[in-house]
Amino acid sequence: MDLTGHFIGRNIISFRDLTKDEIEYILQKAFEVKNRQHENALAGKVLATLFFEPSTRTRLSFEAAITSIGGRFFGIADSSSSSIMKGETLKDTIKTVSGYCDAIIMRHPYEGAARAAADVSSVPIINAGDGANQHPTQALLDLFTIKETFGNIDGLNIGLMGDLKYGRTVHSLSMALAHYNVKLTLIAPKLLRMPKDVKEHLQSRNVAYDEIECINEECKKLDVIYVTRIQKERFGDLQEYERVAGSYKISKATLADLNPNVKIMHPLPRVDEIDPDVDDTPNALYFHQAHNGIPVRQALVSLVTGAIK
Ligand code: NCD
Repeated sequence: MDLTGHFIGRNIISFRDLTKDEIEYILQKAFEVKNRQHENALAGKVLATLFFEPSTRTRLSFEAAITSIGGRFFGIADSSSSSIMKGETLKDTIKTVSGYCDAIIMRHPYEGAARAAADVSSVPIINAGDGANQHPTQALLDLFTIKETFGNIDGLNIGLMGDLKYGRTVHSLSMALAHYNVKLTLIAPKLLRMPKDVKEHLQSRNVAYDEIECINEECKKLDVIYVTRIQKERFGDLQEYERVAGSYKISKATLADLNPNVKIMHPLPRVDEIDPDVDDTPNALYFHQAHNGIPVRQALVSLVTGAIK
């Protein structure tokens, strides 16, 4: 299928909206960008980065991505410096800002906020995380990193470990991986299990998955373990957080019992779930993964603004 020009004006809100062909097209463009085939693609484009929730990697990598291929951006890095503090609604902010730019990249603490913004925006909205719901650009860079490392995604055994309940990155990544022929192992303490709607999505696409509480013998078969931080800020009850805090960790000692070639991924930031002694092993992929945010976000912003067709 020829998808040339297909993404112009498109919102990127959730993996529920993306077909496999569309995902593959975005990844192909990201590989082209990484190979320097689209230098200066964003010349003349202006992007807005609206971050109503803390972020380091996502906001900075979007901003670095935009400027390093010729685009410009303006934005807000936290809601305390915007008119949200004066009581302005998100919809009014978006209606206004969409008149200033070619696309809006937005992070918001509420699930569904990106969809609500897209309803009133005259330019594409790219969801950079909406509460515990979705984080599609992270999942795209995760897929990109897996594909770059292994050559393909089909046939892999992938473990998702940690806060599968509140972690939006693993929600998006599960839905993304559901397009491929993979076997998933969901590794989480009982309190942090993958939500029902995500598991139903996996079932509806016939994705084989196991659920276990901690690393065991079975995990020797894993090609990738994607670790996540406990999302402390999303717990309604801090006592519940205390019950699971520090309950899982990958260290050099853990690696000794796993497939020697297993790749450890993490969206970052990490707290204590990966020991820094893993960083210098050939298994650690997480910093390289974070760097892949640049070509993937360059490709995505360029596609929705028509800078790359
Ligand atoms: C993630 C997020 O914001 O959901 N961070 C990121 O974008 N790389 C993961 C997290 O905060 O734990």
